[in-house]
Amino acid sequence: KPAAKHLGPVVLIGPMAVGKSAIGQQLAQHLGSAFVDTDAVVVAQHGTIAEIFASRGEHAFRELEARAVAHAIEEAQGSNAVISLGGGAVLDSGTQQLLGRCTVVYLECDAETVAERIARNSGRPLLAGDAMGRWRTLFATRQPVYERLADLVLDVRSGSVPELAHRLEDAL
Ligand code: S3P
Repeated sequence: KPAAKHLGPVVLIGPMAVGKSAIGQQLAQHLGSAFVDTDAVVVAQHGTIAEIFASRGEHAFRELEARAVAHAIEEAQGSNAVISLGGGAVLDSGTQQLLGRCTVVYLECDAETVAERIARNSGRPLLAGDAMGRWRTLFATRQPVYERLADLVLDVRSGSVPELAHRLEDAL
């Protein structure tokens, strides 16, 4: 598929642990475009997310995140760069406006599938249990925002990362 398609920047949104970074990275490879993970940008500039939350608070993190997202979207204008956002980035009103200039893909998943993935990867089912309570709470408030902002919804409940990246490429 030619990368000349008029997609503009492709932005992946959705909750934690649904594969935004992994799928985004592969999609960018297929399209021959740049890939930006805005969480990774913040971490490279300011230290780990856990450290930022602990020393400066969530509000400070959200500001750094919004700045990284805005920069990534500005830089990506006129290209098909793929940008993956952190799960909470879409709550920022400035970010919501900038997403109007992008092809926004919502990676749709459910708590059961995410719980299985976290348990498999961490080997800590109890910790996964606790994390899932928070995941569900966050998802309940954010799901309508993801749905409203999405140009395209990719169901990621089944399929490997390469399969999902191909499926997304075909859908774009
Ligand atoms: C967050 C999601 C994380 C990261 C931060 C906060 C959230 O990104 O930005 O820990 O509020 O959902 P991922 O969705 O990439 O895990």
